[in-house]
Parts: sequence; C-alpha cells; structure tokens
Amino acid sequence: MTGASGASVAGSPLPKWQLALAVAAPVALGLGYMYFKNSKPSSKPSRGKSKNNLKKNGTVSADKQISIDIDSPPKSTTEPETPLEKAQRLKNEGNEQFKIGKYDEAISHYNSAIEACPKENTEALATFYQNRAAAYEQLKKYSSVKADCTKALELNPRYVKALLRRARAMEHCNELESALEDVTAACILENFSNQNAMLMADRVLKQLGRQHATEYLANKKLVMPSKYFIKTYIITFHKDPVFSMLQDIDYSNISPGFGKALQCVKEQKYDDVIPICTEEINSSDPDTLPHKMKVLLLRATFYLLLGQHDASIQDFGTIIDNDSVPEAIKVNALIKRATLFMQLENPDKSFCDFETAAELDPECGDVYHHRGHVNLLMDKIDEAREDFRKAVELNPNFGVAYVQKCYADYRYGTMIRSKEIIEKAMKNFEAAFEKFPDCPECYTLYAQMLTEIQEYQRADTYFAKAIEKDPNNATVYVHRGLLQLQWHGNVEKAIEYINKALEMDDKCEYGYETLGTIEVQRGNVEEAIKLFDKALALGRTSMELSHLFSLRDAAKTRLTIKERLGLDVILNFQNIS
Ligand SMILES: *[C@@H]1O[C@H](CO)[C@@H](O)[C@H](O)[C@H]1NC(C)=O
Ligand SMILES: *[C@@H]1O[C@H](CO)[C@@H](O)[C@H](O)[C@H]1NC(C)=O
Ligand SMILES: *[C@@H]1O[C@H](CO)[C@@H](O)[C@H](O)[C@H]1NC(C)=O
Ligand SMILES: *[C@@H]1O[C@H](CO)[C@@H](O)[C@H](O)[C@H]1NC(C)=O
Repeated sequence: MTGASGASVAGSPLPKWQLALAVAAPVALGLGYMYFKNSKPSSKPSRGKSKNNLKKNGTVSADKQISIDIDSPPKSTTEPETPLEKAQRLKNEGNEQFKIGKYDEAISHYNSAIEACPKENTEALATFYQNRAAAYEQLKKYSSVKADCTKALELNPRYVKALLRRARAMEHCNELESALEDVTAACILENFSNQNAMLMADRVLKQLGRQHATEYLANKKLVMPSKYFIKTYIITFHKDPVFSMLQDIDYSNISPGFGKALQCVKEQKYDDVIPICTEEINSSDPDTLPHKMKVLLLRATFYLLLGQHDASIQDFGTIIDNDSVPEAIKVNALIKRATLFMQLENPDKSFCDFETAAELDPECGDVYHHRGHVNLLMDKIDEAREDFRKAVELNPNFGVAYVQKCYADYRYGTMIRSKEIIEKAMKNFEAAFEKFPDCPECYTLYAQMLTEIQEYQRADTYFAKAIEKDPNNATVYVHRGLLQLQWHGNVEKAIEYINKALEMDDKCEYGYETLGTIEVQRGNVEEAIKLFDKALALGRTSMELSHLFSLRDAAKTRLTIKERLGLDVILNFQNIS
C-alpha cells in the first residue's frame, strides 16, 4: 500500500484510489495490523497476487464449508436410548435428509430433535438449531435462518458457524451493520484464520462503506479542493485546450464571460468558475458561440473537482457525443471523464474512454500519463510502464511522468524479479535528480522505492529532500511518519510526524486516516473514530469515502463486540516492526 500511495500523481483526482483497493478484510477490520505489515516489503508478496489467491481459495467452498454439524457420539445398541441420544439420533436422520437435498424433511427431523432434547444440554440444542437454520438457508427462508441462529447463539454465544450463518442471512436482508458484527465476532473467535469469514467481512465492509458513502454524499455540502491541489492538478495536463490559454489570456479573441472565467482560474478564485461558466453557457449572445464547448469543458472540469459527478458526466457527455466538437477538446474531455469513471469504480468505462482518446489523438501524452497512473494503481504494472514510456516520449520535460515511469519500471523489475531492471530503474531515478531537480515527486517516489527495498535510512533522507522542495505538501510528512513505523516500529515518532502534517494542513485527510488507523491499533478505538470522522469531512470522491467508512465501521464494530461478547483483538506493535 505504501507503494501505490507514493505513486499517486501530483494533483490527481484519484489520490486514494489505491487505498480503496488495498482494503483487505484485516485492514478494514480496523486492526491496522495488516496495514503496517503489508507496507513491509518482506511480507508483501504483491498485493494483486495475494488478493487473487485469497479469492480463489475463498470462493471454492464459500457456501459449502459452513454447513451442518454432523459429529455426534456413536450410538449404543444395547442400552435403552437416553433423551439426549434420541435427540442426536433424530438430528442424524435430519442430516441424512439434508445431504440428499430434502430440506423440508430435514427440518421436521430437526424439529423432533429439538423437542426431544433436554433443555440442560445447551450445546447439543444449539447444534440442532444451527442445523435447522442450515436447512432454512437452503430454502432461502432467511428470517427463519436468523431466528434459529439467534436461538443457537443464546445457548452458545461463541458458536462460530451460527454467527457466520446469521451474518449471511442478514447480508441477504441487507442488514449490513448486524451482519458485520457477527462476521467480525467470528473472525476474532477464530483468530483471523478463517478465510471464508475474512472474505465475507471484507465484502460486507465494502458494501456497507459504499452504502454509507452514498448516503453521506447525498447530504454532504460539496467544497472545492484546496488551491494547492487544483494548481497541481492543472499542471498534469499539457494539451488541455482551456488550461493552455491561462498562460497568456488573449481577451480580444474571446467573449467577456469566458475571459472572466479564465481569469478566475488564473487568480485561483476557483469557487467562482462554475457560476460564470453557467452564465456563459446559458447566454444566447452570438459572441459566446465560438467558445461554448471550451466553456463547457471548463465547467465539467470544475464539477469534477468539486465532486458533483452527475453534472460533470453530463457536461463531458455533451462534448464527447457532439461530432462537430474539435478533437483536442474531445480528447481532453475523454481523459477527464475516464478519471471520473475510475473514481466511481467503473474501470471498464474508464479504460474505454482512454482508448477512444488514444485513437483520436495518439500523440497526446496526457492520455498515457493519466492512464498509466490508473494502471499503476490497479497493479497493472506492464500496461502502466508502457503508458508512462509513451507519456515521457511525448512530453520529455515533464518530471512527474518521468519518475512515474522509473517507478513503474522498478515495480516491474520486482514483479519479474529482474535485478537488472531494478538497477536500471534506480539509475534512471538518479538521472531524474539532475534533470528535474525541483520536482518533489522525484524525491518522494524514490523514497517510496527505497522504503520498499528496506533502505530506510536513505528513504528518510529523500523524504526530507521532498519536503525541502515542497514544504507545503503535508502528505509527505505522513509518509515520513509511516516510515518511522516500518523502520523502527517507532509509534511516537510516527505520530509526531503525522501531527506535524496536521498542524501544517488541517485538511490533510491522509493524516487523519493514518493516525486513526494507528489509534485503532493502539486500542484507542474511540479516538480513532473521531479521527476517521475528520477524514470523512474532507473526503470527496465516493471511493475515498467508502474506504473511510469501512475503516470507521470496522472500528465501531470492534467497540460493539467488546461490549457484547467481551471479545477484543489483542495485537501489538511487536508484530509489525
Ligand atoms: C503531495 O505529495 C504526495 C506524495 O508525493 C503526492 O502524491 C501528492 O500528489 C502531493 N500533493 C499535491 C497536491 O501535489
Ligand atoms: C486464538 O488465539 C488465542 C491466544 O493466542 C488462543 O488461546 C486460542 O485458542 C486461539 N483460538 C483459535 C480458534 O485458534
Ligand atoms: C441555465 O440553463 C439550464 C438549462 O437550460 C437551466 O436548467 C438553468 O437553470 C440555467 N441556469 C441559469 C443560472 O440561468
Ligand atoms: C456541437 O458542437 C458545435 C461545435 O462546437 C456547436 O456549434 C454545436 O452547438 C454543438 N451542438 C450541440 C447540440 O451542443
């Protein structure tokens, strides 16, 4: 995860995309444990790969694994049956029916078993209810599943199968919060060794996070990102038909309204851009006609930055679907819409737009730079490398693209275990310091790479250099803090850096999020929830918000379970350093 976060493009609208990808169950369960463990290269097999493995193993038997309980004492043939033995026999008959798919018959046997079972044999009774719930599950009678599991859990509160089954039934009924509680309890009881449970926790957390994010976004007051962010965003486009006019605005050639909008961008009065554009777009003055599509593009871009997704998609669509719009405008709209689709977790549509843009203008470096970034974050290293190669070829003076390429090369080298490629990537990095001495990204990405190869001391030096080049980027302090954690397991020092970041920039979402994760790990769950709330107030894209809600929901669930079962997670920093 560190790898990818360092790889984010300056001012990219996708700053936390990789975080969303990285939310594996243990991370999101708020343990923080895997979070730090994963950032330790030695224990990091490559996120994409391990994830796939998990999926493969997990889905094989996800539904069959947690089935009926079949173990029961052998039947004695000579002595008369005790009531418990009778109940066990009835249950076994039920199990036979269950195995051949006769669920209604199985249920009636389980009914008899429950009736026959002495009330003091709580454990056996719990099993019968659990088994009956399994049969109801097969019949998709979820409210009966829930009722029977609840009875089983009243009799045996630490019954993992019943917890998981009730969680699944609740998931079907979209009672995600309760489902999360049960599945988390199961994970804790099994020391996080039950892969099916972990996969389910991951799934429920993501669903819940998404649901909460959607609700939250519907009511959230949208705010523009910081001036600093927008400024950095603007320079990631070299062939932007509107941004390229900013350098030297020629007012004689454009309508006064468009001139005013451009001036606002130039003077960083970003909040005024959308209303001015709207006025211009709605105007029937013939002077506005020649630049209408550019104004629309500008408005769409600012809707995108603001997080007003529907309006942004609509404006981009108007441009893209119009056959008479000049190519440069269309290509730019396609690139930006592609990044927006990515934020909305729709990679297919995103890549489709990138593809169309590349077909329209194969010489536009912006297409490859932005697509390379998306590819890198999705762990498509090969494709990312190729994209950055083209981006550098087309924009040889763009430092960010140049180091992104170095970084992608390095990642590729690690993937195929080629020492040669890794060394070449490092050399190219060093060349970057000569070529682009003032580009902070060069130093952060290099430091990122050094962290991954566990050259912590040098990594720290390069983070320091990045800070020197761009003292206003608080995120780099957070990275440096995380390095302390990986390097020495030094929690205090890590927190010190992160607090510094938050002091500098009280809108540093990544700082709140990281600190929250550390606090969860330290057992300060309530404090962590407060920090996640602060991060949430700053989150913009649905992807970021979903991720943050997952962290928050996981932390909250941990508190609830502690109350309900007296169960808590015991982990310590020894495990991670
Ligand atoms: C701040 O630095 C991080 C790490 O290099 C980078 O990903 C991010 O884009 C930078 N932020 C801005 C607004 O430039
Ligand atoms: C989980 O770990 C605890 C403490 O290490 C141990 O006592 C317990 O038996 C373990 N439970 C399982 C299901 O592995
Ligand atoms: C601009 O035009 C759109 C569509 O015709 C309309 O919905 C909107 O209210 C108008 N806005 C202003 C500020 O006039
Ligand atoms: C399509 O684009 C052309 C050229 O920019 C413009 O004149 C025309 O009004 C646009 N059509 C629509 C339906 O927006």
